Amino acid sequence: MDVIIRPAEHLRGTVEVPGDKSVSHRALILAAMASGKSTIRGLATGADVASTRDCLVRLGLAVPDGMLPPSLEVEGLGWQVASEAELDAGNSGTTMRLLAGALAGRPGRYRLSGDASLSARPMERVAVPLRAMGAEVSLGERGRPPMLVRGGGLRGVEYALPVASAQVKGALLLAGLQASGETRASEPGDSRDHTERLLAWLGVPVRIGDRSVSVVGGGHLPLPHFALDVPADFSSAAFWLTAGTLVPGSEVRVSRVGINPSRTGLLDVLASMGAPVSVSAETHVPEPAGSIVVRSGSRVELAAVEVGAELVARTIDELPLIAVAATQAEGETVIRDAAELRVKESDRLAVLATGLRALGATIEEAPDGLVITGPTRLSGGRVDAHGDHRMAMAFAVAALVASDPVKVVGWESTEISYPGFLIDLAELVR
Ligand code: S3P
Repeated sequence: MDVIIRPAEHLRGTVEVPGDKSVSHRALILAAMASGKSTIRGLATGADVASTRDCLVRLGLAVPDGMLPPSLEVEGLGWQVASEAELDAGNSGTTMRLLAGALAGRPGRYRLSGDASLSARPMERVAVPLRAMGAEVSLGERGRPPMLVRGGGLRGVEYALPVASAQVKGALLLAGLQASGETRASEPGDSRDHTERLLAWLGVPVRIGDRSVSVVGGGHLPLPHFALDVPADFSSAAFWLTAGTLVPGSEVRVSRVGINPSRTGLLDVLASMGAPVSVSAETHVPEPAGSIVVRSGSRVELAAVEVGAELVARTIDELPLIAVAATQAEGETVIRDAAELRVKESDRLAVLATGLRALGATIEEAPDGLVITGPTRLSGGRVDAHGDHRMAMAFAVAALVASDPVKVVGWESTEISYPGFLIDLAELVR
């Protein structure tokens, strides 16, 4: 499906974006590991979290199918799941990797597959440590899905992730809960910490070190049931925060949004570009949440930035937006140490370079990043999101500051994380 996005005069208003996708996946899995009835409010409504729900249903969880309601009651299984299952993770890497870890602790046989995009994504990164813990994990060609997991009898390991990844770290922790001895994951960057935060909130003693986290397995399951308020997704709010920064005369507030520091690197980047962003924290447990306001003046003057290893993990899903903002900033923006973007739902470095260049941006692709020279008045045109939800919406933000309408090809992908994007856009540009 194609969508035409027109240049915006300004964006004004308050928006509440869907629930946090990362927290929602974890909340559902932890509810299945609990005994008794858990309540999850503010669950993400997109297709990715529905994939986790569908997999858990195949494993024995009783939850309604169809579109996910924003509030859900889940009767836990204490992780006494089916001993064999075919699980379709759809487009969702988080579903596949977290479930691989959680199921590695079960004495069963599970086959995890996904759509064409997920079937092209690397899974050795999660298979390697799970094998070291004693699970049998086999993969398709070149370490791609489908993934076959035969679990049970795990022992703890100490594992240093070569690339920071909350999905791999989360998988290790969920396996580690069910292993004998201590499981410790360390990583070279600060990936999001939702798994360890939620586990600690549920009373599991997790030890947090400097870029490391560990858990001693045994006796944790079933987890206690819980009532969780999922904050709105910072990564979805990020589209409006960036658009509100770039379109002159805008004032945008996002409310009830997650402001976990492991997610909000974009705010640091926008601030160093010179954008006035203000954050007010409102609630804290287990995930901090609050309101964020951006205002742009009648003229937008932004400075180029450098984004390297220190920031990449904290901006991993927002790097496309940083590239869009860089087209409007004075000077040369350099994004490096971001080769990870090549193995997301699409090769985001290549898709960004092609798409933004088609709109007139000066953008060069490096093996691990991008160099963007601005500012450029973007033109109208046609861009292809290559079936990647975040790319489609990042291009929509670029379109808001273009001189003419932009056709975004592959819009249906936005169902993955933000089905109501166009409704919220229409409200903000009124
Ligand atoms: C996620 C972690 C990130 C992110 C993804 C969601 C998660 O991937 O890109 O959209 O919920 O754990 P990494 O595994 O690269 O951290």
